[in-house]
Amino acid sequence: MLAKTPPMGWNSWNTFGTNINEQLIIETADVMANEGFLEAGYEYLVIDDCWSLRERDENGLLVADPEKFPHGMKYVADYVHSKGLKFGMYSCAGIWTCAGYPSSFDHEYLDAQTFADWGVDFLKYDFCNFPATADCKHRYHRMSMALKATGRDILFSACNWGVEEPWKWMKSIGAHMYRSTGDIRDNYESFKEIALSQLDNLPYSSSGSFNDPDMLVVGMYGKGNVGFGGCTDEEYQTHFALWCMFGVPLMMGGDMRDMSEASRKLLLNKDLIAINQDEECRAPVVIRQTGDPFIQNNCVLFRHLSNGEFALAFFNFNEESEYAVETYGFSFDDIGIPFECGYGLELTDVFTGENMGVKREAFIPPVKAHSCKVYRGKLVKVDEKA
Ligand code: GLA
Repeated sequence: MLAKTPPMGWNSWNTFGTNINEQLIIETADVMANEGFLEAGYEYLVIDDCWSLRERDENGLLVADPEKFPHGMKYVADYVHSKGLKFGMYSCAGIWTCAGYPSSFDHEYLDAQTFADWGVDFLKYDFCNFPATADCKHRYHRMSMALKATGRDILFSACNWGVEEPWKWMKSIGAHMYRSTGDIRDNYESFKEIALSQLDNLPYSSSGSFNDPDMLVVGMYGKGNVGFGGCTDEEYQTHFALWCMFGVPLMMGGDMRDMSEASRKLLLNKDLIAINQDEECRAPVVIRQTGDPFIQNNCVLFRHLSNGEFALAFFNFNEESEYAVETYGFSFDDIGIPFECGYGLELTDVFTGENMGVKREAFIPPVKAHSCKVYRGKLVKVDEKA
């Protein structure tokens, strides 16, 4: 089964945009395979837009740009596979890709076969330059069927940006993940807005077909194609923790050859990845504050995991740290554990590894503005006499 848990990997777009080539892909594959990323679960290496020539060849086939990819795409795919990784590519449901390269409208079966012949394992399928008279759902379904017809296992990453409420129909047409928002930018406001926009849609996301609130910007620090301002390390933690608590795809977007230590550590955080990859693929329970403007949008997420475990996360989307601490309006009763039940959660902080002991009703940790706290825990009976 493809996408049993949220797909993990790397995609070229966020940092490199059009500036992609064979050497970059080879070096990225090396880092992913040799520096613990593949082992942590990041298995797909995906080349985004701008990889082809501006014209198809005389047989109507897409052609890799020989200046960027002098040995062709099969060579790149073979190299990526030799490292134990899976190889992903990009096309679009419209007539041209978003960056103006030929794309797959009315070439669905031909292009799917081309990708299969090259050894592609993942196709990101975008939504630019789509004819006004064509039916979006029908065309995504056609490409899904074209991929199936190749007989190769190709993960279908449908990129509809949330335009047609993709959470409601993408699973039924065979998509393994579906973009639910516009493009992410490398700044706090961008990932915050994206995250808050998807809270109500997460219950649609499930094993086999995941909501995709776009790729990660962790470690970009304002550099590269979508590097609009950059984030602090603390903000990257919040971004990554949200994507992990949501149980959505983790596609890294930074330059793997130049990751800061803090970002590397974050992307390889075993507890957060375990939460993200939990086999039950349950959406979080969302306890969200909406009334008071000081606390607006602060939220607590609680996730049921397998093996009797839970994850509990506090996000402070406030701008004023001093208002952050007591203002969640959260109580353990909101997650089914009222004080009188006699149970609490034994919690471990996923960032520090600290065992927090057993927490119940009164526990609300201090969380600074733009920041978060995330815990893994088990339900335990509280010994009143202890
Ligand atoms: C769209 C997508 C991006 C990226 C670009 C490529 O904007 O949403 O993720 O693939 O196209 O042009």
